[in-house]
Amino acid sequence: MIKVAIIGGTGVYDPNILNNVYQEEIPTPYGVVKFRVGEFAGEKVAFIPRHGSSHAIPPHLINYRANIWAMKKVGVQSIIATTAVGSLNLTMKPGDFVLVDQFLDFTKNRINTFFDGGTRGVVHVDLTDPYCPVLRDKLSKAAKKANISIHQSGTYVCTEGPRFETPAEIKMFQNMGGDLVGMTNVPEAVLAREAEMCYATVSMVTNFGAGISASPLTHSEVVDTMGANSENIKKLIMAAIEEISIGLEPKECCCHTALAEYGGFKL
Ligand code: HPA
Repeated sequence: MIKVAIIGGTGVYDPNILNNVYQEEIPTPYGVVKFRVGEFAGEKVAFIPRHGSSHAIPPHLINYRANIWAMKKVGVQSIIATTAVGSLNLTMKPGDFVLVDQFLDFTKNRINTFFDGGTRGVVHVDLTDPYCPVLRDKLSKAAKKANISIHQSGTYVCTEGPRFETPAEIKMFQNMGGDLVGMTNVPEAVLAREAEMCYATVSMVTNFGAGISASPLTHSEVVDTMGANSENIKKLIMAAIEEISIGLEPKECCCHTALAEYGGFKL
């Protein structure tokens, strides 16, 4: 059984921390999902590079429903996601890690539920804690063990992309309480909760947001900062899998019963 998955964001394409890696292809109602599976710390771990292995899938065209469905189908209970983000908060600097705990959704054209009416019905899922508090706690412990400093909370603003923001938008997001801006955490986090899986995100700040940054933003700046910190990302993910493998006890949190009111999530 594969109980843990890593969804790697920009700059995290390679599951080279895993041993005995093989390719898996899982059909879902939304299309076939190809991903790799390997072993680490006695756990089987699935790895999906969110944008494809060569960054060919833009944020608004990622098949979020297929990815989460496939993970659920192979038995995954806990998903660690990584995201590259711009910062709106001067205390969160390029190179910093943030364990986000809230999001603001500014996406526009994404399907953000498994429940579109019809035979699957309608679900209004609770997101009081949009990221699993238990998994966040494990990531926090993992960071401490790996000697990596990490901001313990932050509000992630999810934009539609694929363009970067205007300085006026960045100012608005700051005024609304946003700390970070990225393009992928919604609907991924929402779908994971609908599928009653634990999901947490480690965001890596790659730049200050448009208008805060002194120069125009470039994708290479994002990729270069991720690359410069790839050893730390790897260390943190390895420590997190170890931490999960110590006590992967589902049902400690609200995630596994998120749809109890509706009779549970069904594939
Ligand atoms: N905006 C949106 N997404 C991002 C950014 C940004 O500044 N940096 C990395 N991902």
